[in-house]
Amino acid sequence: MSRKIACTGIKPTGSPHLGNYFGMYKPALELANDYDTRYFIADYHALNSVKDASKLKELSYEVAATWLACGLDPERSIIYKQSAVPYTFELSTVLMAFTSKGLMNRAHAYKAMVQSNNENGKDPDDGVNVGLFTYPVLMAADILQFDSNVVPVGKDQVQHLEMTVDIAQSINYNYKEKLLTIPTPLIRKETGIITGLDGRKMSKSYNNTIPLFLPKKKLRKTIMKIVTNSQSIEEPKDPDTCNVFALYKLFATEEQQANLSGKYKAGGLGWGHAKQELFEVMNAHLAPMREKYEAFMEDKAYLDKVLEDGANRASKIVSAKLEKLRIALGLK
Ligand code: TRP
Repeated sequence: MSRKIACTGIKPTGSPHLGNYFGMYKPALELANDYDTRYFIADYHALNSVKDASKLKELSYEVAATWLACGLDPERSIIYKQSAVPYTFELSTVLMAFTSKGLMNRAHAYKAMVQSNNENGKDPDDGVNVGLFTYPVLMAADILQFDSNVVPVGKDQVQHLEMTVDIAQSINYNYKEKLLTIPTPLIRKETGIITGLDGRKMSKSYNNTIPLFLPKKKLRKTIMKIVTNSQSIEEPKDPDTCNVFALYKLFATEEQQANLSGKYKAGGLGWGHAKQELFEVMNAHLAPMREKYEAFMEDKAYLDKVLEDGANRASKIVSAKLEKLRIALGLK
């Protein structure tokens, strides 16, 4: 029996950080055990905000190298660059004919921009390009082209998934045929929020991230910047409200956690020490992946080859899907 299909994309808009690792890369890669997996670098989506050519290219390599360093097996899964499969854009054009403008008006990224423009007395569509406005249609094409059954996403993407379902259903309804598979979101639990340097959710927009593959020394320096309170060394400390401990839990064994928690509560542990302990477990976990990441980034020819192979495999699947659609829609 053939396995179900999972598909997900990551926009190359910034260097991958710890929040991305625990929130996206890791859970998405775990799906490869149970699903046929298709991962892509959403570079056309990124183009809406990254308009520096060498930056976009480099960030795309970073995302590819991150997927691979985190354990993606390119034999077992498909990995490719969105822009390398032009059929996706053909499908996107088809989907536009079934997407009401009102649906796009409700997309929260667009709505938020309009609202902020209104609040600032600007034209409602100031700074909004059509690529941003139609972002959910391209995302629907990414998903529907593979007949994806599940799409692992964060909570912020759920609305886009609902729009994908809407669009697919209106096509199936119109042609009285199940032309497109209705996908289900696999929503990651919010309990998994990764705190950043300042205790807020780790996010590029808060400028509080810990990049995943910082060189060892820089990683240590960054960890030393984590915000703590002003308690003295002697005072007993509460691990449960501490930004350092919150990150420590992600990497340490139960035993290590119990041990450090004991030291917090006993008093006599300085923040510098706690951060050093965090650095040690984090570095031990990340070092082997970082080594792979650095090797991939040094070998762009290999990355190109993997991505090209992925694009060829994806193209085969999607061109067959489009051929069926062209016939069903009367384009052929
Ligand atoms: N919009 C997603 C994000 O910002 C990225 C993305 C593009 C995506 N196409 C997709 C995710 C298809 C899942 C499936 O995170």
